Amino acid sequence: MQAHDVKEILIDKQTIADRVDKLVDDIATRGSDNLVVVGILKGSFMFLADLMRSFHRHNVHPRIDFLTLSSYGSGTASSGQVKIIHDIREEIAGSDVLVVDDILDTGRTLAFTKELLAARGAHSVRTCVLLDKKAHRAIELEADHAGFPIADHFVVGYGLDYDNLYRELPHIAKVTFHD
Ligand code: IMP
Ligand code: MG
Repeated sequence: MQAHDVKEILIDKQTIADRVDKLVDDIATRGSDNLVVVGILKGSFMFLADLMRSFHRHNVHPRIDFLTLSSYGSGTASSGQVKIIHDIREEIAGSDVLVVDDILDTGRTLAFTKELLAARGAHSVRTCVLLDKKAHRAIELEADHAGFPIADHFVVGYGLDYDNLYRELPHIAKVTFHD
C-alpha cells in the first residue's frame, strides 16, 4: 500500500442522504410488482442499505440479493477481468432487476452484470450507482440512475475501499497519495 491520507471530504453524509432519496423517487416512479435489487459486493453494501430504507417511503417491497464480483485485486487500477466470487440465489427470470454498485468506472463490472442477468431471462435490467467516474470508461455504458459525477480521483468511504479499508466512512473522501 502506498503512503496516503484520506482527509479531504468530497461528498458529505447529508448530501448523500438527500441524493439517495431522490434516486429512489426516480426508481419508484417506474413501478414494478416484481423488482429484485441486486447489490454488487462488497462496495455497494452501505449505499444499498440506504436505498432499501428509502424504498419504504414509497411502499415498494423489492426482493434483494447480492453478487460478489472482483475486478480490482488490491491496487487502484482495474485489472480488466471480472470474476464471480459468489453468485445470487434469487430466481430473476421475468423480474425487473435493479443492479446497484458503488461506482461506475471503466464500465466492465456493470456491463458484465447486465449481460449475465439478461441472459438469465430478466424482464428488464436497470443500473444504479452512487458515483459516476467518466474518465476511465473502457466500455460505452451509462447508468440509468447515478448519484454524483466525480472527477478522476481515487475515492473511499460509504462502502468504497482502498485495499479493503475505509469502507466505514459515512462520507466520500479523496485518497491523496504521497511518494
Ligand atoms: P469498473 O468495472 O471499472 O466500472 O469498476 C467498478 C468497480 O471498481 C467498483 O465497484 C469499485 O469497486 C472499483 N472502483 C473504481 N473506482 C474506484 C475508486 O475511486 N475507489 C474505490 N473503488 C473504485
Ligand atoms: Mg466494487
